[in-house]
Amino acid sequence: MTATLIDGIGLLYTADPEREELRDAALVAEGGRVAWVGPAAEAPQADRRVDAGGRCVVPGFVDSHAHLVFAGDRTAEFEARMSGRPYSAGGIRSTVEATRRAGDAELATHAAALVAEMLAQGTTTVEIKSGYGLSVEDERRSLEIATGLTDETTFLGAHVVPSGTSADDYVRLVTGEMLAACAPYAKWVDVFCERGAFDGDQTREILRAGIAAGLQARVHAAQLGPGPGVLIACELGAASADHCTHLTAADVDALASSGTVATLLPGAEFSTRSPYPDARRLLDAGVTVALATDCNPGSSFTSSMPFCVALAVREMGMTPLEAVRAATYGGARALRRTDVGWLRPGARADLVVLDAPSYVHLAYRPGVPLVHQVFQAGLLLEEDIQNRPLVVPL
Ligand code: NIG
Ligand code: FE
Repeated sequence: MTATLIDGIGLLYTADPEREELRDAALVAEGGRVAWVGPAAEAPQADRRVDAGGRCVVPGFVDSHAHLVFAGDRTAEFEARMSGRPYSAGGIRSTVEATRRAGDAELATHAAALVAEMLAQGTTTVEIKSGYGLSVEDERRSLEIATGLTDETTFLGAHVVPSGTSADDYVRLVTGEMLAACAPYAKWVDVFCERGAFDGDQTREILRAGIAAGLQARVHAAQLGPGPGVLIACELGAASADHCTHLTAADVDALASSGTVATLLPGAEFSTRSPYPDARRLLDAGVTVALATDCNPGSSFTSSMPFCVALAVREMGMTPLEAVRAATYGGARALRRTDVGWLRPGARADLVVLDAPSYVHLAYRPGVPLVHQVFQAGLLLEEDIQNRPLVVPL
């Protein structure tokens, strides 16, 4: 097995609570895993050496919430919003129509291009949801495509009720035939619990059915207004309640006293010109917070975790340290993963060398391509990341 020593690390942010930051550090990767982390002066011998040149190294970002299997384009909807029209979850149905029309290869190529775009920006773990198929076969094939790109796949048949179906019939389908077809391809079950999508009773019923089929729960909760989603997520032991923009005091208390992570998705507030979630309130209450992109064609068409870190710092009351922690360690907690999201012996050697002396630059220099190198499972991505494939609208 080849051991790679990365030294010359000016600042190593490990996200390991036991030793979160180290100056003048080095790291050894072997067999895809971190074998050693410590002061550069004490680094062991290795087969090859990469000099980070005094740069900052952080764990690969863990994007725990993304909707990447879709076709079509909603530029016009974004443009209309920017001239004053409000966001409506109903736009989801236009993506559903385009997705149903697209062939498997088209959908897979497009999703893979988005994953490549993410990787080039330092994301080494991504969760991918279905939810733009809303028929048994279109949800199943969305998840089959997602399994080709990640282990973190989420069945979101309960995204909205498709046109031409009653809510009751659709919940029966989602909890019955659709779940049976999708469960083999999914780790998670998710519901968009929101006025205009699914109410509390429907959310509970769908999550319980998913759990009974062997899936673990996560919930889209309190994105557009207050609702029962966060309390249901905590009650059912969901790994994460996602969005958490409109929280009651009871929601914050429930998150603080449960193992449920609050995943904040500031790309959605940016792109819908809505008030940002109050991360400070959650952190002060002791809640574990994750940051993710929510990458999707409607409410948040960004694939950039650095952009989300910058928004979280500027708009949500997070310090740069808290934001980078939420984008790495927090995302891993939201996916119940202990092998990613931090750099300590035994973890996967997923890391980002930043063209910056500190992770603070992720927020201090917003919009600047600061990713110098990405290592995934110890392997340096050799591609010229500036010439990554562009996402071509279908
Ligand atoms: O997470 N909230 C529900 N789903 C997406 C939006 C999807 C869309 O508008 O296409 C979200 O923001
Ligand atoms: Fe989402």
